[in-house]
Amino acid sequence: MPLEAVDLKPNIGAELKVTAGMLAEGGLAQEIRDLLVQRGVLIARDVHLTEDQQRAFTRSLGDLRLGSVRKEGEEGLMKVTMDKKVNPEYAEFFPGTFFWHMDGTYDPAPPFATVLTPRVLSAEGGQTEFANTYAAYDALPKDEKAYLETLQVVHTMQAAMFPAVPDAPLEQVQKWFTYPERIHPLVWRHKSGRKSLALSTSASHVVGLHPADSRALLDRLIAHTTQPQFVYRHDWRMGDVLIWDNTGTIHRVRPYDASSGRELHRFTLNGEEPIAA
Ligand SMILES: [Fe+2]
Repeated sequence: MPLEAVDLKPNIGAELKVTAGMLAEGGLAQEIRDLLVQRGVLIARDVHLTEDQQRAFTRSLGDLRLGSVRKEGEEGLMKVTMDKKVNPEYAEFFPGTFFWHMDGTYDPAPPFATVLTPRVLSAEGGQTEFANTYAAYDALPKDEKAYLETLQVVHTMQAAMFPAVPDAPLEQVQKWFTYPERIHPLVWRHKSGRKSLALSTSASHVVGLHPADSRALLDRLIAHTTQPQFVYRHDWRMGDVLIWDNTGTIHRVRPYDASSGRELHRFTLNGEEPIAA
């Protein structure tokens, strides 16, 4: 049976018409991968995947991520929460997720995709937003594209975390510095031949530019990329499953009550290609 899907917005997102069983048994994996890199974000409603089904579905799409710098979760399961009792390691990095970012820019090949399901939701807020970095690149003027393709960007964990936790104690800052610094091209030419903007809060500075010019350029590109026409905002409902292409989108969570117990479960796939010019 072919995959049934409906676009959510012209530049981003599609809703799949599937059941938990259809996802977990893996028969649609190739079609889902192909659609994912075209649409950036795929969702399905009322699916109610069990943990085992979510893991099996993720595995059908690629190479399950168990962590690089540090181990991520239990057999690939990462509990996304601000609650230090549930996931102390992750909770410390949570504040960074309120800012637009790509996951894992400290790896040469950032994670390909993530599969997310809600287990506890907040009464208000907590929407997750995604911006399509392919569409944002495509919309730039030709001359600017040519210039941006010449630039390299230094990515660091401290650049991603410092704005989110400006008063972090020394031990926390020291942990940020255990993540490697990476230089990635600003424009990512994927193996497919398509190009996207490799943006993230982890972008510390552009190599060779004055710091003020570098900051202005990166801020402007984030503002360009996160215009409404490139963004899909997901309002979570129990039973949802959401898959995002981490290599062709940036994402952030909107504020919510820290005492709500909000908890999402994620499984992630290892990267398949380095950010290359
Ligand atoms: Fe993230």
